[in-house]
Amino acid sequence: MTETSTTIPATDSAAGATPAAGSPTRIDEIADGIFRISTLVPEVGPDGFTFNQFLVVADEPLLFHTGPRGMFPLVAEAVASVIPVESLRWISFGHVESDECGAMNMWLAAAPRSQVVYGALGCDISLNDMCDRPPRALQEGEVLDLGGKRVRQISTPHVPHGWEAQVLFEEVTGTLLCGDIFSQVGRCDPVTTHDLVDVAVATEAMFHQTSLAPHTPAVLRSLGDLRPTTLAVMHGASYRGDGHAALYALADRYEAMLTAPTPSLAG
Ligand SMILES: [Fe+2]
Ligand SMILES: [Fe+2]
Repeated sequence: MTETSTTIPATDSAAGATPAAGSPTRIDEIADGIFRISTLVPEVGPDGFTFNQFLVVADEPLLFHTGPRGMFPLVAEAVASVIPVESLRWISFGHVESDECGAMNMWLAAAPRSQVVYGALGCDISLNDMCDRPPRALQEGEVLDLGGKRVRQISTPHVPHGWEAQVLFEEVTGTLLCGDIFSQVGRCDPVTTHDLVDVAVATEAMFHQTSLAPHTPAVLRSLGDLRPTTLAVMHGASYRGDGHAALYALADRYEAMLTAPTPSLAG
């Protein structure tokens, strides 16, 4: 992994490249060949909020999350510090929202061989229409061989939100690209080994972003059964450690919230 300067202290992180002096965006290699591109937006939340994209370096490089359109120059600069932007082959994300895929068509224009790759449901309900070039639809559990890395598509409807929600599991490094699951507010290290469950539950209490449905804990446990060793988190620090235990613990907390008595709205 590369060792260069960073713009935010990283106590237990892998260091990475910084796109340019003064840039609000940093890039760090959080697993072998998997780079986290992170921009802190100070105006969101009580202490800022990070928007993170993940570049999977392989023979056919993949970007997970495009960032919103306004963030495209920053993210492109960060990608260019690792690979030529035009060499990007695949674009994917966790669900259809502006921070996940707002700049999708800008990436398709910047990388002429690139293509959005997504679960079949998301293609059917949104992406076949929204993408400037037709997306590639993956069947449930299908593995896309990137050449040196492999990502498995897993649909997670409404977890954490969005009918078309999905995650990708990179099998070579054991990295779960888990999107908005384990979101945290504020400044953070690129990757941490500290327990994220409490801070994720506190963030959930602030934003109410998760669809707390009866199936939510079971979906989280099924992701835990993949036994990821890195959780690549879209907002906040990524996690390195026992992903099975972390996802089961988060499922337990959500299950307790689901079964807690609902406060009466009547005075
Ligand atoms: Fe989201
Ligand atoms: Fe998000």
